[in-house]
Amino acid sequence: MKLSVIGCGYLGAVHAAAMASIGHDVVGVDVDPAKIAALSAGTPPFHEPGLPELLEQAIASGRLRFTTDISEVHDAAVHFIGVGTPQRKDGGGADLTYVDGAIDALLPHLAPGSLVAGKSTVPVGTAARLATAVHAAGARLAWNPEFLREGFAVKDTLEPDRLVYGVASDDDAADDVAVLDAVYAQTLETGTPRLVTDYATAELVKVAANAFLATKISFINAMAEIAEVTGADVTTLADAIGHDARIGRRFLNAGVGFGGGCLPKDIRAFTARAEELGRGESVAFLKNVDEINLRRRQRVVDLVVDSFEGQVHGKRVAVLGLAFKPDSDDTRDSPALDVAVRLHGLGADVVCTDPQAIDNARRQHPQLEYAATTSEALNDAEAVVLVTEWREYRDLDPAAVADLVARKVVIDGRNCLDSDAWRARGWQFHGLGRP
Ligand code: UGA
Repeated sequence: MKLSVIGCGYLGAVHAAAMASIGHDVVGVDVDPAKIAALSAGTPPFHEPGLPELLEQAIASGRLRFTTDISEVHDAAVHFIGVGTPQRKDGGGADLTYVDGAIDALLPHLAPGSLVAGKSTVPVGTAARLATAVHAAGARLAWNPEFLREGFAVKDTLEPDRLVYGVASDDDAADDVAVLDAVYAQTLETGTPRLVTDYATAELVKVAANAFLATKISFINAMAEIAEVTGADVTTLADAIGHDARIGRRFLNAGVGFGGGCLPKDIRAFTARAEELGRGESVAFLKNVDEINLRRRQRVVDLVVDSFEGQVHGKRVAVLGLAFKPDSDDTRDSPALDVAVRLHGLGADVVCTDPQAIDNARRQHPQLEYAATTSEALNDAEAVVLVTEWREYRDLDPAAVADLVARKVVIDGRNCLDSDAWRARGWQFHGLGRP
């Protein structure tokens, strides 16, 4: 099938490459010429494992190309909208400028009967509003939310847990379902569950899923706070409650909390939308979820400051990790970067490093000092703060690190190090929610 993907960021670029890899003829469109040039050359402008290989194969097959010219989508049967919906500058709501802009740009080029399939995360009610214009142009609108995780984006796109189609409540909706079934035929053949819903349900499925995940993380981080005043160990607690299949161990890793371009802004946008709908009280707990999450960043900072008995000014602190999670170079709302910025703000001599995210971090915070390698960052450090659990940091040898630093103090902001091994080598070790 001929497909277009409007918006070629973390979501759209992966979707475009994945759709081409399963045999579709895909054109990816973005307003950013640098992004389009990089993708056309097979080198994604962001770090995503497996994407360069997928891009290269798809481009070589002749089934994938990228352009800044939206008119090139005119013969596509399905147009996926994968543009960003960041947090508004003036509040917690979602900024729909890019979604509205994409639809406006697309309208003049829509072939009659073609389908626009929204993938962006939008406030409930958005699809119904956009459908009016799309249907008036002789095309159709569906909402097909995306659940991919950065770092696993290729796998999540090709082998999703489920497919959700939010379709119009009219007689033509069955045709829209058939079109999406044709797009995802290969995925459906493997038995992937597929749920057909109305627009509102599809939009809510996405934000509800992210709200649940955020709540799960903040729940365990709240337990970490209680553990900290009782001497309990939150990691053992998570293991123990996680054995209950109804609870499950995944997303129960206590630490510096969640960040990224999705969870934080999605719970804020959900809260703002619920308030607009007069149902603010229904999701009022998400404000607590957000607050618990942000408190954990300060907790890491406090542990560093306390290790210097309050005198952090001028102290050399190595911050390991800048990305919001490993296997990503994304620093949007990154807890790791936030910790570095807060420590720098307190006058600490902060040296940060990350295997992939230095460039993005530097663009956001040029005032910080960046080291290209881990050993450079660790050199003469008086405290080591691990805030993104890259494999390279998890595997650090406490004896080897001890030879580099000036003072053996480590704060494990992701509870990913073996505390006994570090203590055995003479380190003062601090975890989150751990004795
Ligand atoms: C999240 C969802 O997991 C995806 O399903 C969704 O499609 C995506 O948002 C989106 O809306 O586009 P992502 O932001 O890539 O995916 O990252 P996650 O793996 O969910 O991690 C989010 C944050 O939670 C990271 O900062 C991570 O370090 C943190 N986290 C995760 C914890 O602190 N503890 C955990 O146990 C798990």
